[in-house]
Amino acid sequence: MSYSLYKVVHLLGVFIVIMAMGGAIVLGTANEEARSRWKKLAMITHGSGLALALLGGFGLLARMGISGMWPGWVFVKVLIWLTLGGAATLALRVPRFSTPLWWGSILLAGVATYMANYKPF
Ligand code: HEM
Repeated sequence: MSYSLYKVVHLLGVFIVIMAMGGAIVLGTANEEARSRWKKLAMITHGSGLALALLGGFGLLARMGISGMWPGWVFVKVLIWLTLGGAATLALRVPRFSTPLWWGSILLAGVATYMANYKPF
């Protein structure tokens, strides 16, 4: 797969993760009827997005010739990926975290985008 196609896969995965995060956060505070209706779809979507973001991200690293020891910016992005990975479950289980998770997800996406563009370390 080409660098461009990996980036399409990566960004599609990222968009899906952020959308599913929004769904999981709202579902965390929703009534039982809404939860039973949407929870499965939100979590399957979230997991699929994580998988696409991971596949695309490591494909991009390979096309950029980055192997062996990761530069600092890659570590930060993997940590953000792991945090977003656990955040959907947290949103469903601890509704009082809904507001910090809402703004936190947006902030993490911004930091990851900054890291990808500026590669500060
Ligand atoms: C497994 C973790 C991740 C890896 C290995 C990874 C790796 C990469 C790589 C190698 C690039 C291309 C950089 C370049 O072309 O110079 C990239 C671009 C990007 N990544 Fe990630 N990434 C990861 C997670 C994330 C997450 C969690 C987000 C957002 C929530 C994200 C958002 C972006 C964005 C927006 C770009 C495009 C930057 C641009 O072209 O303007 N990444 N990523």
